Amino acid sequence: MKKIEVCLSPELIHLFDLKGKTVVVVDILRATSCITTAFAHQIISMKPVATLDECKVLKNDGYVIAAERGGQKVEGFDIGNSPFSYMDPSLLGKKVAVTTTNGTLAITKSLTANNILIGSFLNISALAQRVHDLDQDVVIHCAGWQGSVNAEDTLFAGALINLLLASFAISTDDATLAYSLYLQHKNNMLDFVLQASHAKRLQAFGINKDIEFCLKIDEYPIVPYLEGTDIII
Ligand code: MLT
Repeated sequence: MKKIEVCLSPELIHLFDLKGKTVVVVDILRATSCITTAFAHQIISMKPVATLDECKVLKNDGYVIAAERGGQKVEGFDIGNSPFSYMDPSLLGKKVAVTTTNGTLAITKSLTANNILIGSFLNISALAQRVHDLDQDVVIHCAGWQGSVNAEDTLFAGALINLLLASFAISTDDATLAYSLYLQHKNNMLDFVLQASHAKRLQAFGINKDIEFCLKIDEYPIVPYLEGTDIII
């Protein structure tokens, strides 16, 4: 059977051999939830970049520029990192350049993988089907928070494992931990995540509705993926 591993933080990704594997990058609050929402609202491509400067100059090439740092929109950019910002009809058909505190970093640290998929609760079933169809060992790469492990990405990893167990085998303790967390909280995921540190950080900024939205299951049956330096669908 193909194997499932979970990397709980980008600080640990150097311990994983990604060659020949599928990597699912997850940042539930909120980067990968935003990316999924953006493609569900017909943007044409998304370029994840590491720095604010790299992102800003892309405006000259016709990109909509999106930036978040510390959970808040960065001044001087078109949008921040709320999924609701990506529902704006004016983004239809546009290309977006994006940089966030954790999510874009996790993507750029996964580039040696065979396939890099964008995972969120919003697209979890379509994602599980794509992982199954690719039929490669899978590493679920959690974006965490500034190098630390976070609850919501780990919970998602367990939820995805739950959908893959018929044809994939848990092969490491990090995957076992994620799966156990999911089994413990599968019936109260929102309540559990609302107690987590980043949800509390967002709530302190008055950002509340994003959290509930990012925990919705199968809102969008799409699987954005990295092709070269751009995310497409
Ligand atoms: C991130 O990528 O760091 C997160 O999505 C932060 C956020 O948007 O709140």
